[in-house]
Amino acid sequence: MNDLDQLVAAAQADFEHAATPAELENAKARFLGKSGRVTELLKGLAALSPEDKKTRGAEINQTKQRIEAALQASRDKLADAELQAQLKAEALDVTLPGRQRGAGGLHPVSRTLERIEAIFGSMGFAVADGPEIEEDWFNFTALNTPADHPARSMHDTFYVDTRAADGTGHLLRTHTSPMQVRHAVQHVKAHAERLAAGLPMPEIRVIAPGRTYRVDSDATHSPMFHQCEGLWIGENVSFKDLKAVFADFFRHFFERDDLTIRFRPSFFPFTEPSAEVDIAFADGPLKGRWLEVAGSGQVHPNVVRNFGLDPERYIGFAFGMGPDRLTMLRYGVNDLRLFFDGDLRFLSQFQ
Ligand code: PHE
Repeated sequence: MNDLDQLVAAAQADFEHAATPAELENAKARFLGKSGRVTELLKGLAALSPEDKKTRGAEINQTKQRIEAALQASRDKLADAELQAQLKAEALDVTLPGRQRGAGGLHPVSRTLERIEAIFGSMGFAVADGPEIEEDWFNFTALNTPADHPARSMHDTFYVDTRAADGTGHLLRTHTSPMQVRHAVQHVKAHAERLAAGLPMPEIRVIAPGRTYRVDSDATHSPMFHQCEGLWIGENVSFKDLKAVFADFFRHFFERDDLTIRFRPSFFPFTEPSAEVDIAFADGPLKGRWLEVAGSGQVHPNVVRNFGLDPERYIGFAFGMGPDRLTMLRYGVNDLRLFFDGDLRFLSQFQ
């Protein structure tokens, strides 16, 4: 091995030793740089005879080319290694089964609540929201249903531990009617100055949809169910308005005009007179069957008083509808429990 072969071997060894591109460039400078070993050799040519200069020059140039080739080989090797490392780090097993990402959607009862809010909204009703863990006062007493009232037994519910010995305390609300009182009291407070001055109060027109609870469970009753309360109080609001509101609402809700509404006398402690509301379709699978869809009535003077209003001046109606029942009717579902089982095979049909 002559000196030039040795130089190539040394360069090759140095290049192969370099672990990073920066190290490789440093090694390159040692051989091919301004004062690198090849450059030094070329400088040495000056002292040679023209004849020797020619042969030696050619040999050195060859050496330089071999070193450059070795350098390129090492560069390629480093780049390749870097690529392999990156590929390994970002490895993706495309044979794994994909993760399913089903698009979510609204629950059918939520759809119904949105429809109810939109339709009543178009009739000028605000939407109120209130607590599901309710005070005994709002759920019963303020609604003309004192502690010993027999109507309470129809509203068997889940009492929360804080229930006091005198029957007051907290319970899971059995209906949305407590929202009548909560909302009306707020409304009256907001207009206290006008009321004190004997000026007319802006009407109360509100719906309050939400979850309610009773100890009840079968194909048409669930311990948790939904109600939507409605309240319209003014100086001149009558049963006639109630009927008009219902007619309008149900026609919009079911998107059909072949619908009859019937008021059936009933009893609620907080309305007088009271009525159950039935609807019947003139056509279709439910043709001619009366379907109970709401309880309603003219708000009882005692309740109007609990609103903080004078029942001689302010009067109106309230109603409580069952959005679950409306959803069953609209979609032709015959078992209420399906809505709350959380079975996606059932629920995804509504998307
Ligand atoms: N809260 C009553 C119920 O749950 C329904 C109702 C509401 C009746 C408002 C009259 C007025 O049965």
